[in-house]
Amino acid sequence: MLLKNFIVFEGIDGAGTSTQIKKLCARNSKLLIPTAEPTDRATGRFLRQLLAGDFKLDERTTSYLFAADRCEHIYGEGGVEELLKAGRIVVSDRYFFSSLAYQSATCGKGIPRHVNAPFPLPEVLFYFEINPEVSLKRVESRDGKREIYEKIDYQKKTAALYDEVINEYENNPDGMKVIRVDATKSIDEIADFIYNTLINLNIIR
Ligand code: TMP
Repeated sequence: MLLKNFIVFEGIDGAGTSTQIKKLCARNSKLLIPTAEPTDRATGRFLRQLLAGDFKLDERTTSYLFAADRCEHIYGEGGVEELLKAGRIVVSDRYFFSSLAYQSATCGKGIPRHVNAPFPLPEVLFYFEINPEVSLKRVESRDGKREIYEKIDYQKKTAALYDEVINEYENNPDGMKVIRVDATKSIDEIADFIYNTLINLNIIR
């Protein structure tokens, strides 16, 4: 199944997805609604504590938790499904492709695949491509504490798994469009590329 007018940005940490979502949604804040995973709901706040290293869990448990938060994100009150029904275009910073890359790097592919199989595909997936060494430098230049996944070996492993997942989904039978973004370009160039792509796809008119 595919959710029309649901757009997802994916990429390793520091690829620039959050910056681009802000820029895109600022172009028409009534129509374009930004959202993100982990969410800012109770399930997502618990995941943020985990990502901050406040406690440790088995990696398989983590896979289930990201999927539970995703369920809230899509089907919970005021969630993606509701916004789409109200005629909005929803743009999410990360979706289940993140789990297929990040969690597969720690607990293998089985559980992430299994728990994410029921989720609908977005209409468009923008994949931000960048070398993990470059993106991690961007992350390290930011203020604040590092999250548990922000380490070079892990980011390299995740980037390789992301590439596999994106290649696999590029020819999906449901018609989700997969668009690769050169994340090393300037912020404005990327913003224009994304906006023009959505106009060409007739999603933004
Ligand atoms: P972000 O807010 O910078 O995107 O950070 C979220 C972190 O959570 C990032 O390191 C990716 C990770 N993550 C997963 O490991 N699995 C998931 O399913 C999602 C949505 C995020």
